[in-house]
Amino acid sequence: MKTRFLNNVKIVSTGHYVPSGVLSNEDLEKIVDTSDEWIYSRTGIKTRRIANGEKTSDMAYLAALDAINKAGYEASRIDLILVATCTGDYRAPSVACRVQALLGLSERDVACFDVNAACSGFVYASSVASQMLNGGRYSSALVIGAETLSLYTDYEDRGTCVLFGDGAGAMILESTNEYKPADFYLSAKGELDLSIVINDKIAMDGRKIYQFAVRVFEESIQKIMLDNGLGKEDIAVIIPHQANLRIIEKAAELLNIDIEKFYINIEKYGNTSAASIPIAFDEYMSAAPRQENKKVIFVGFGAGLTWGAAMLTL
Ligand code: ACO
Repeated sequence: MKTRFLNNVKIVSTGHYVPSGVLSNEDLEKIVDTSDEWIYSRTGIKTRRIANGEKTSDMAYLAALDAINKAGYEASRIDLILVATCTGDYRAPSVACRVQALLGLSERDVACFDVNAACSGFVYASSVASQMLNGGRYSSALVIGAETLSLYTDYEDRGTCVLFGDGAGAMILESTNEYKPADFYLSAKGELDLSIVINDKIAMDGRKIYQFAVRVFEESIQKIMLDNGLGKEDIAVIIPHQANLRIIEKAAELLNIDIEKFYINIEKYGNTSAASIPIAFDEYMSAAPRQENKKVIFVGFGAGLTWGAAMLTL
């Protein structure tokens, strides 16, 4: 049997940025045939933030800067930048390269690339960063999730336009000699590729994704806990992709884990795809005292269909 290699990485800091423009359910009532009552009761969303000229790379940079400033971190230590996004400014260059430039790191040796696993992107990117740090070549990774979904949202389709918003979140990871185990489980089911497509506009089969999401949330959390011998008491917080409050509540119920263990902010921001986990994680880290050595679990799903979970040590 293959021996599983457990990663070891330290969470140094987190940050986030959301645009100031607010799109409320009441605003949407004026655009499509919907109501605050329908949206809130079906999704848990009240408002979302919409970029006004900011590009994905601008938001990614501002989230990174927030993480750097919070820790008084020396940005010149960063030697790896990964951006999880499916709404980059261009097909190429990557958002990561733009962030390198905006941080003034262009003269330094920094590996930069984007990761596209849609809404699971931040879980995937955290895994890639962690493997690269553990490979020994890199020592400081800036991992960002950043999206401008409003550019691809069809504001004539009430089935989708009520869900999505814009924003970015960031996390700095370092290789460490401390004992900070990390583990990742990633998967995909390509035959469901057309269940949600982000092309000119977002098109999706909402009900199909809903059922799928509840199942993979439950299975992914179960798997990462089982593989690492974790009990509920070992977990400080679960940070789920914020797609729909009902998906999170249903998964919590099936897992028999108190909903209080899940950090939820979907009411304010809606679904910001790859940005939702790092935004929520930063809000959690900024509000709660750090429970040293307890575990944080990220869990996500998205277009692909892709899904996965990450376990990191606080
Ligand atoms: N306002 C009022 N009525 C609406 C709206 C709306 N905004 N949207 C749909 N309806 C209507 C439908 O037309 C339908 O009417 P009908 O019965 O007369 O045909 C009725 O409400 C029920 O529609 P459903 O689609 O069955 O509603 P459901 O309870 O499934 O909720 C929702 C829809 C919120 C989209 C849900 O299915 C969901 O959240 N799915 C997951 C979607 C998701 O997470 N996508 C993103 C994943 S990937 C990523 O994150 C980028």
